[in-house]
Amino acid sequence: MKDSHDTAWQPVTLDGGASPPSDPTALVAAATDARERALARYSGFKVGAALETDTGTVVTGCNIENATYGLTMCAERVALYKALSEGNNVFTRVAVVADTDDPTPPCGSCRQLLWEYCGDIEVVLANLSAVKRRMRLSQLLPLPFDGRLLD
Ligand code: THU
Repeated sequence: MKDSHDTAWQPVTLDGGASPPSDPTALVAAATDARERALARYSGFKVGAALETDTGTVVTGCNIENATYGLTMCAERVALYKALSEGNNVFTRVAVVADTDDPTPPCGSCRQLLWEYCGDIEVVLANLSAVKRRMRLSQLLPLPFDGRLLD
């Protein structure tokens, strides 16, 4: 099955040919701001995400919790769904910010959704004081199930 998101599926090589990673400061700042809007009264764990498009647009998200717990939506998926619903479909990077010493990576569900719609984007993981890790989504989801298997 092919659709308009196919262009975003092309893997991006880390070595050779890829342009040098650009400064993530502004993207991390946007995610940090979004984190302040987290609705995380049950876990107390606030997360912010900022997704960057190929044209430099930044769409943010924060986690949104619910009394049933299970309906909680992660910051990354809030940003992704906002971005997609506004017509963005080519992405370059996502920043995730939480107040943890170790980097907070996207959960499994978010990895799957980011892969589906963003492809092998750069993932910038930061806490409130520093960028902790920069990696490709394929490093977090090395053997993905995706639409190519359904062709
Ligand atoms: N959470 C996110 O928003 N993103 C992540 O990458 C990890 C977890 C949220 C979901 C829930 O509201 C809280 O963090 C605790 O799991």
